[in-house]
Amino acid sequence: MTENKGYEARGAGKDTGDCMGRVSTSAPGKCILFGEHAVVYGQPAVAVAIGQRISVSIETLKGNSETWKIDGMKFDPKRHPHVQALRNRLWQPKQGAPNLSIRVIGDIPPASGLGSSAALSVAASAALRVARGRWYNSAELRDSMAWSEGYSSQFEQEGVYSIENCELNAHRDGDAGKSVHYVSDESVVDLDECALLAHAVEAIAQGGRASPMDASTCAHGGIVLLSDTLESEEDFLYSRRLKIPEGEIEWHLHSINLPKSAEEVYLVIGNTGIHAPTSKQVAKVAAAMKNNPQRMKEIETIGVIARRGIKSLKEGDFAAVGRAMTENQIMLQGLGVSCPELENLIRAAAPTSLGAKLTGAGGGGCMVALTTNPKQTSEAIELAGGRTLISRFGNAGLSIDETENLPLWDTKPNV
Ligand code: MEV
Repeated sequence: MTENKGYEARGAGKDTGDCMGRVSTSAPGKCILFGEHAVVYGQPAVAVAIGQRISVSIETLKGNSETWKIDGMKFDPKRHPHVQALRNRLWQPKQGAPNLSIRVIGDIPPASGLGSSAALSVAASAALRVARGRWYNSAELRDSMAWSEGYSSQFEQEGVYSIENCELNAHRDGDAGKSVHYVSDESVVDLDECALLAHAVEAIAQGGRASPMDASTCAHGGIVLLSDTLESEEDFLYSRRLKIPEGEIEWHLHSINLPKSAEEVYLVIGNTGIHAPTSKQVAKVAAAMKNNPQRMKEIETIGVIARRGIKSLKEGDFAAVGRAMTENQIMLQGLGVSCPELENLIRAAAPTSLGAKLTGAGGGGCMVALTTNPKQTSEAIELAGGRTLISRFGNAGLSIDETENLPLWDTKPNV
């Protein structure tokens, strides 16, 4: 691979001759520094990629298997709605896609606010894209305007979010859809496409209300800022628009450069062990706002705190970042998304950290403490009954780890 596409290609392209096709990819989990819940309504927020990852490996099934397999078991779409939604968009059996065996492994605890489902969706969408390759309308251009199929923030995005007929949007018509040039290697992976598909899948799982924060952080890695405006000092990634029941929301996504002083701080994540589905927590906030529209003020206050935290983060002032996190937690308590178990771990972390708050949707799941003493903070959280993970800033996003005998599905033009 000569081009820098913004994701890692570790050992990709190995051809081992007689084995069935295989693709392995991985993506990190995420931790939110400021702005969860409020970001669903368009307020600014920041998330960082953590060191823990999910790996997805797909292989074509030998013989005449009539169904997909996941971790050796028959694939049940109801148990794996994220994978099913991606299958609808990238790998439709009615278009001749072969059955696959999928293996998912990783060290991101599920349903705990650390982005395990977004990491799975990002890694799986990349794996499926590599496995099917991509058709282009020209051999020259490789940017999305030359694609004859695919999902991109450059095209009409609405269809990708729809529950039905999403497969139509995998193809472009007219001049752009000439399908004259086919590429089947890891260079066809596009971070915008993976994050867009993962966001669409999250939006379906969360009853229509989901920000693109988790999906984009798991795809791009590093530190991702979502804003209601274009931030001229940051690296712009793309914009996303989604109609949620409360109206159309637009997010502008950016990548923040890591400040030098980030080398001195750690994120200690404490897991309550309580599984808390994001969809339930997001619905709870929506119901509270419906009952009392004045509560939008709390959402706006989280936005003000997030802005202050973002400024401190860019200045590398982590003491102030920690204070903003603690203030953010007070607002999340007020919104009703914290719980006694989270409060207990946050209290335990406070004496040795710069700031602490819940991370993700709350109601259980994880808290995060920003600290220069990871050992002490971790011990304090463990003594209070939490299980800890330690992460630094600056972790890599999506990576293509292995490819063998591509493509797994040799698509024909205009299928
Ligand atoms: C979940 O990780 C973060 C929430 O803000 C939901 C979302 O952004 O879609 C609670």
